[in-house]
Amino acid sequence: MSEAVAIAHPNIALTKYWGKRAGAGRLPAVPSLSVTLAGLATRTRVRFDHALARDRLVLNGSPVEGEAEARAVDLLDRVRAASGEVRFAEVESRNDFPTASGLASSASGFAALALAAARAGGLSWETRRVSDLARRSSVSAARSLFGGYVELDAGPPGDLATDFLAARPIASASHMPLAVLVCVTSEGPKAVGSTAGMQTTLRESPYAEAWLSHAPRLHARLREALLSRDFAAVGALAESSALAMHASAIAAGVVYWTGATLDVLAAVRGLRSAGVLAFATIDAGPHVKILVRPQDAAHAKAAAVAVPGVKRVIEASIGEGARLETPGMSEGTGTS
Ligand code: PMV
Repeated sequence: MSEAVAIAHPNIALTKYWGKRAGAGRLPAVPSLSVTLAGLATRTRVRFDHALARDRLVLNGSPVEGEAEARAVDLLDRVRAASGEVRFAEVESRNDFPTASGLASSASGFAALALAAARAGGLSWETRRVSDLARRSSVSAARSLFGGYVELDAGPPGDLATDFLAARPIASASHMPLAVLVCVTSEGPKAVGSTAGMQTTLRESPYAEAWLSHAPRLHARLREALLSRDFAAVGALAESSALAMHASAIAAGVVYWTGATLDVLAAVRGLRSAGVLAFATIDAGPHVKILVRPQDAAHAKAAAVAVPGVKRVIEASIGEGARLETPGMSEGTGTS
């Protein structure tokens, strides 16, 4: 087969990855644990074609250039090297949510690209191997290959660009139902990409060391709380992880927050004072994602919509892993 279409969902990290290991590989310095989101999706078609003189990439109708193009071409080169495919590829991708604004579009984008490219190149790799391929272009993308709650270890120390590192599913959606309210505070792309933001943090933040030693402890505690279905502890630890990550970044001048971000954080604290188990998490952008139990989603959504800087609220539940879409049938992979 020289053509394939894949669908992948973004994921939200409950314990954040922020910082790469030194060296050439894209290996995370800390472990992370995420939840894959239903209700937001990237759909990507990859076609190898001998008529092409170079790889052609189109995202939401516009050509992809610069850093994102280089990372996608790297991924296609890896597929060509592993499969013996020699043709260039046409890649057409579409997100149904704002791109590059802290909504983890790189996670769903590179997860869908990795799966579609591997299959179009004729590689029938197991999902772990596709997760490792995606991770080499975007660390968070490794997690979107799987559904439910997903974990990614820290990379081993040292300059080990060839190391294998894949995410793994650790609990299904039904293990601990969760609603995620994505409070969109701006539709534009963020000013500082996550790779640049984390490099600056590790280089310049006085709190970089504190983050690197604290993050694995938060991760271990959250993992434990998740396995024992302790929603309040999972929420509190997820909020702590996001605040610690941003505190380390802010101290290096990497500020993703806006006034609206702080206003949503205040609304979440207000919900907690009123007895609702609501918690916040924030990726490398201004949006706040509110974590609640499904039965509290309507109440929390009403509070979020009332915050003046919130443009809209997208309600997501826990989703499945990346999967192929083939004419007439869809094939699932990696759903836990
Ligand atoms: O792998 P990237 O470049 O998408 O970085 C992701 C960084 C965060 O979203 C802030 C945290 C995470 O673990 O997803």
